[in-house]
Amino acid sequence: MDLQANVLRQLKNRREGFSLEQPFYIDQDYFKLDMEMIWYRDWLFIGHDCEIPRAGNYFTAQIGDYPVVIVRGKDQVIRAFHNTCRHRGHRVCTKDKGAAAKLVCPYHNWTYDLDGSLVFARQMGENFDKAEFGLKTVHCESVGGYIFVCLANEPADFAPMRASIEPYLRPHRLWEAKVAHKNTIIEKGNWKLVWENNRECYHCAGNHPELCRTYPEAPTATGVQGAGDDPFISEHWARCEAAGLPSAFNMDPSGQFRTARMPLIEDAESYTMSGKRAVKKPLSADVPISHIGTMLLFHYPTTWNHILGDHAISFRVLPLSAEETAVTTTWLVNKDAVEGVDYDLEELTHVWNMTNDQDRSIVEENAFGIRSPAYEPGPYSVDHEGGVMQFVEWYSNFMTGRLQGDKARLSVVA
Ligand code: FES
Ligand SMILES: [Fe+2]
Repeated sequence: MDLQANVLRQLKNRREGFSLEQPFYIDQDYFKLDMEMIWYRDWLFIGHDCEIPRAGNYFTAQIGDYPVVIVRGKDQVIRAFHNTCRHRGHRVCTKDKGAAAKLVCPYHNWTYDLDGSLVFARQMGENFDKAEFGLKTVHCESVGGYIFVCLANEPADFAPMRASIEPYLRPHRLWEAKVAHKNTIIEKGNWKLVWENNRECYHCAGNHPELCRTYPEAPTATGVQGAGDDPFISEHWARCEAAGLPSAFNMDPSGQFRTARMPLIEDAESYTMSGKRAVKKPLSADVPISHIGTMLLFHYPTTWNHILGDHAISFRVLPLSAEETAVTTTWLVNKDAVEGVDYDLEELTHVWNMTNDQDRSIVEENAFGIRSPAYEPGPYSVDHEGGVMQFVEWYSNFMTGRLQGDKARLSVVA
């Protein structure tokens, strides 16, 4: 039986409310299929507008097999390109980030304008037409300070996502924030294990003493059900919405993304050990009240986020292999906040650095146990792991749809 048919059969016969079968977490061929069906076709969060505030600022990223570069043009438009030179394929930008008037390939100095057009290629003969060899474009959109890219030739319409999440992001003015800190950790586990762990707080009490000082472990906060029935949460939404901050639970019908603003524990305002703000300057002048809790945004397969009154934290997931995933965390503060004056970097980053490390260890031990031939899918907690079930449901439906679509297309071609 071929791979696609096998995956389809396993997804169809999946026991609902149970974790996936072993190959979905460890097998290289299943991983390649994930990359082709999801990662190389969908909108992926890649970074923030404020990471490249000026013309010529760029950053690079690796999405599976594809190196990409994201650059701000002279016209201030943010564009993304395949970071592979049209001469012989050398990576044009080899650093994580930088600033350049033009993008110059280090191999033979082919030189590209910030809009990707080739402007200089030395001694290529009379018949050489530079217009044919611009950098290949990657679809790129920015919403509320978040840059998304899509590697597909024909990307899904970005407009519905923009319409849904922009009102929630807009008051926080993240497009003009400042990166206070950014780091990447490698978790030795499949990207879906990283997500499954993220989508529940059943593990929080036993694993995250720092985070649990301020973040509620109740499934209504992390999960996807019951928030509206919780009077504490609906009161929070009413107070925030009256202040002009969209807050109520808002999930796309496909289940791919969700926004909701959740209260923190008691008087907490930020993810610090004391619960007090880590940054003196508010993140945004457009947020007129304090104690706004955390605006939660997840977008499968790349990002979950916490936007607070004093700072915001974004998380970016990029798979490296079937059993390795890079998780990049970025702390954003008001652009005028000064380290050492308005915030202490250690205080700002402590809780989530600890939490990330604890989650890394959990994901790695989870992956370790799943490698056992004795592993079999186990039941999620209906009370606590509704968010995980929702993720697995989304993954299964999404993959099934794509695989069936591909099968239909292939049979038409045949
Ligand atoms: S490969 Fe880029 S200039 Fe030759
Ligand atoms: Fe966790």
